[in-house]
Amino acid sequence: MGSCGGTSISTAALIFLLLGLLVGSFFSPSEGAIKKYQFDIKVKSVSRLCHAKPIVTVNGMYPGPTIYAREGDRVIVNVTNYAQYNMSIHWHGLKQYRNGWADGPAYITQCPIQTGNSYAYDFNVTGQRGTLWWHAHILWLRATVYGAIVIMPEQGTPFPFPQPYREFNILLGEWWNADVEQVEKQGNMLGLPPNTSDAHTINGKPGPLFPCSDKYTFAAEVESGQTYLLRIINAALNDELFFGIAGHNMTVVEVDAVYTRPFTTESILIAPGQTTNVLVLADRTPNRYFMAARPFQDVPITVDNKTATAILQYKGVPNTVIPSLPHLPNPNDTRFSLDYNKRLRSLNSPGFPAKVPQKVDRHLFYTVGLGTDACTTCVNGTRLLASLNNISFVMPQVGLLQAHYSNTPRVFTADFPDKPPMPFNYTGAPLTANLRTAHGTRIAKIAFNSTVELVLQDTNLLTVESHPFHLHGYNFFVVGTGVGNFDPAKDPASYNLVDPVERNTVGVPTGGWTAIRFRADNPGVWFMHCHLELHTGWGLKTAFLVEDGPGPEQTILPPPKDLPPC
Ligand SMILES: *[C@@H]1O[C@H](CO)[C@@H](O)[C@H](O)[C@H]1NC(C)=O
Ligand SMILES: *[C@@H]1O[C@H](CO)[C@@H](O)[C@H](O)[C@H]1NC(C)=O
Ligand SMILES: *[C@@H]1O[C@H](CO)[C@@H](O)[C@H](O)[C@H]1NC(C)=O
Ligand SMILES: *[C@@H]1O[C@H](CO)[C@@H](O)[C@H](O)[C@H]1NC(C)=O
Ligand SMILES: *[C@@H]1O[C@H](CO)[C@@H](O)[C@H](O)[C@H]1NC(C)=O
Ligand SMILES: *[C@@H]1O[C@H](CO)[C@@H](O)[C@H](O)[C@H]1NC(C)=O
Ligand SMILES: *[C@@H]1O[C@H](CO)[C@@H](O)[C@H](O)[C@H]1NC(C)=O
Ligand SMILES: *[C@@H]1O[C@H](CO)[C@@H](O)[C@H](O)[C@H]1NC(C)=O
Ligand SMILES: *[C@@H]1O[C@H](CO)[C@@H](O)[C@H](O)[C@H]1NC(C)=O
Ligand SMILES: *[C@@H]1O[C@H](CO)[C@@H](O)[C@H](O)[C@H]1NC(C)=O
Ligand SMILES: *[C@@H]1O[C@H](CO)[C@@H](O)[C@H](O)[C@H]1NC(C)=O
Repeated sequence: MGSCGGTSISTAALIFLLLGLLVGSFFSPSEGAIKKYQFDIKVKSVSRLCHAKPIVTVNGMYPGPTIYAREGDRVIVNVTNYAQYNMSIHWHGLKQYRNGWADGPAYITQCPIQTGNSYAYDFNVTGQRGTLWWHAHILWLRATVYGAIVIMPEQGTPFPFPQPYREFNILLGEWWNADVEQVEKQGNMLGLPPNTSDAHTINGKPGPLFPCSDKYTFAAEVESGQTYLLRIINAALNDELFFGIAGHNMTVVEVDAVYTRPFTTESILIAPGQTTNVLVLADRTPNRYFMAARPFQDVPITVDNKTATAILQYKGVPNTVIPSLPHLPNPNDTRFSLDYNKRLRSLNSPGFPAKVPQKVDRHLFYTVGLGTDACTTCVNGTRLLASLNNISFVMPQVGLLQAHYSNTPRVFTADFPDKPPMPFNYTGAPLTANLRTAHGTRIAKIAFNSTVELVLQDTNLLTVESHPFHLHGYNFFVVGTGVGNFDPAKDPASYNLVDPVERNTVGVPTGGWTAIRFRADNPGVWFMHCHLELHTGWGLKTAFLVEDGPGPEQTILPPPKDLPPC
């Protein structure tokens, strides 16, 4: 691993230079500018872990290009599909006010962009600034089709933390030596969890702990005494990850494009779908330090401790110096996970108040469970699936948003239950006797501008497990969380209704619950799902149909002319 950083340093420097140019031109003083991007979906052969294989990319890049915008801008991304797969792109965390047409999840807000076709996602970036990301939202294609979204604050508005000298995007991902679509298909056919990935990656590179990976190592060059902003994104399909930098603490200043009350930590925990901005002060002995990411997994389902590494390299230090690894929590460190999440708070300053709904119009309680279906091709005669309130979601053949907008009957029913059909000891002894599960394209109808509290309760159907839930179209406040069964009589008393963290993806702890609140002021059909692709595929998803409001600015916008047909 001696000379591992060699090529990547020069690549990093080049990318940095290009980024500098891009940032320079995009961030010229132009309030409410239009930022246009062309995304060509193309298959390209990429080599990692001693294997070359074709992967689906945007513009031949892996990870894909970064979208730069400023708060108040309009962004138009024309996606042209030259690949043999159906495609759709989700702009993860963008609120898409009245504009679900640009949200992207296939068969929820649009039909896929078929081979040879284009669709221009057209949206405004309103009231948000920070790090978000984009990814394919169909099948498992987001394994390689993803990239960062960097939203700068409005011109003249500084960050509410010390201005960093430079910044780096850190995209954490997973790499399979095989074709991910084959991996997914094989899992479905056998009814078992598909093969786990062969490596974790940082900016698409696994780092020198993996074979043939010395030259596939990301390096960030830093200058002594300077402060850097790291925009960390977990783009992995199925793994919550710990991330740390040897010898350096990190100050967390933002998650999911919302400023947080700053706190310092040796490691962060980041679930698929989440982003975390940290400040790092390069004040250690000039050297080469590993940045590393590896899974948090507090149920022994699969032992997966593949550690991706990248290098924080002080300027002038030769590439021959062997870096040391950071100390990361044990993969099973539940305590760290609970404590870390508790430290995340909204900034809640006069400029950035936390508008937490104090009163709740609609109480929802959804159980998260695993289950099985009969399956003749499967190893055990059964296929694993997953459900919310014992309903495993069935994907429709047309977009739910179109069906709603055009009043097309029989695509979905707006009768998703507010409570599980049958209360039980959710986190008691494992339940394996009856794992049958209902199926349906059922979603909940929510009145415009009502306040919603949703408690997500993990269950021990087959096994307990942690689940990062993502809500489209909204941020929410994480008002409470706990281990065991949610107690509606006692637990709300300990809610944080003052400065809870505001985000778009939250982990439901293993064998525990999480309570979120939001104001349903964005009309449309908004997907809500576990961001572990494995579980999404098994049916751990539903949607909220938020009704139109009475005012002219409170209705779903008309669909764009180029919305892909089914
Ligand atoms: C998107 O790109 C395609 C292919 O280049 C082009 O034909 C189409 O006009 C573009 N659409 C927009 C809105 O720019
Ligand atoms: C974006 O903002 C512009 C200017 O306010 C407006 O004309 C346009 O309709 C908005 N687009 C969407 C998709 O909301
Ligand atoms: C999954 O792993 C098994 C065992 O290593 C291997 O035989 C199989 O080919 C893999 N499946 C795919 C789709 O790569
Ligand atoms: C990191 O923070 C911990 C706890 O606050 C502290 O003990 C440690 O000295 C710090 N390390 C560095 C390198 O600043
Ligand atoms: C996984 O963990 C085991 C035990 O701690 C260790 O021996 C092994 O090297 C680790 N493997 C990887 C790829 O990190
Ligand atoms: C977590 O893993 C460590 C190291 O593998 C082990 O020693 C410890 O007993 C485990 N802790 C729990 C709570 O399972
Ligand atoms: C299915 O079969 C495999 C292999 O025989 C076995 O290891 C596994 O425990 C079974 N799984 C279930 C859910 O029954
Ligand atoms: C639920 O199960 C747990 C673990 O078996 C047990 O300790 C607890 O008493 C049970 N709760 C109820 C209400 O039965
Ligand atoms: C889920 O639904 C199935 C099918 O209706 C039923 O057999 C099973 O008892 C239900 N399970 C739970 C936990 O509600
Ligand atoms: C939603 O309700 C709140 C509280 O009643 C009110 O302040 C706000 O103006 C409403 N928003 C809309 C878009 O109607
Ligand atoms: C692509 O999407 C269209 C429209 O939904 C569908 O008819 C077609 O079967 C899909 N093709 C594949 C390969 O999934």
